[in-house]
Amino acid sequence: MATLSGKSILVTGASSGIGRAIATALLAQGASVFGMCRRIGKVPDGVTPISCDFRQPERIAHAFEILDAACPQLDALVNSAGVAYLSRLTDGDPADWAEMWEVNVLGLAFCNQEALKRFPSTGGRIVNISSLSGHRVPPTGGFYAPTKFAVRAMTESLRNEFRLDGSPHQISSVSPGFVDTPLVDGYFKDREEELAQMKSSMRMLDPEDVSQTVLHILQAPPHLEIGDITLRSSDQKV
Ligand SMILES: NC(=O)c1ccc[n+]([C@@H]2O[C@H](COP(=O)([O-])OP(=O)(O)OC[C@H]3O[C@@H](n4cnc5c(N)ncnc54)[C@H](OP(=O)(O)O)[C@@H]3O)[C@@H](O)[C@H]2O)c1
Repeated sequence: MATLSGKSILVTGASSGIGRAIATALLAQGASVFGMCRRIGKVPDGVTPISCDFRQPERIAHAFEILDAACPQLDALVNSAGVAYLSRLTDGDPADWAEMWEVNVLGLAFCNQEALKRFPSTGGRIVNISSLSGHRVPPTGGFYAPTKFAVRAMTESLRNEFRLDGSPHQISSVSPGFVDTPLVDGYFKDREEELAQMKSSMRMLDPEDVSQTVLHILQAPPHLEIGDITLRSSDQKV
């Protein structure tokens, strides 16, 4: 892909945190950026908002039809929408599990499928925002870590399907450790002491650390497919 100027790129979760930083970085590279989320008033200026709640799968196809009206061909998709709750398997709330599964796993899979229908025959690119929790299970992994292991597995499955089908599309994932976004506060909801302890023990990554990594992937030349990039604060111990 090399230059992103003039490319049409859809970013899910563009209203907050990492997705918002990615959308901003892509705009600065001259891309046409579309942002899919519920709080469309929060996408950066210059991003075309598309409303969608990933907990309603039937709405996802409709949201892509709205995208079609503004964007005849999609060059890349960045899946950043996600939710994280520290919800244990022993005593967590199954409603939290359902939301994490629907948004982090099913929503991402549906978006990938819809985006593929719109990629050019010469090849498009997908970047899934996964997590270090998709590589190792931290003590607080609960039900969140399994959803991120699923993202990593889906990334590999889709890559296998592309190669089996002789498809030119490429897929990558980025797996950050703690990043300073509202998601972290929600993760430690009702555990203020643990949150304060974590924040005082480390400098978290900034969303821009992740967005620069996504730019690196999307700007790679066509012969180079980057698999997964892990990144964490140098303070983060696990
Ligand atoms: N922050 C971290 O420490 C960290 C570490 C590793 C991986 N990650 C991953 O990075 C990604 C982005 O997280 P973040 O830290 O940027 O979190 P964030 O600031 O809370 O942003 C989450 C985004 O997901 C969207 N979203 C959530 N539920 C949705 C739904 N039902 N339908 C549509 N969109 C929905 C939100 O948009 P609306 O609310 O507007 O719908 C928002 O834009 C997630 O996949 C997360 O798992 C984060």
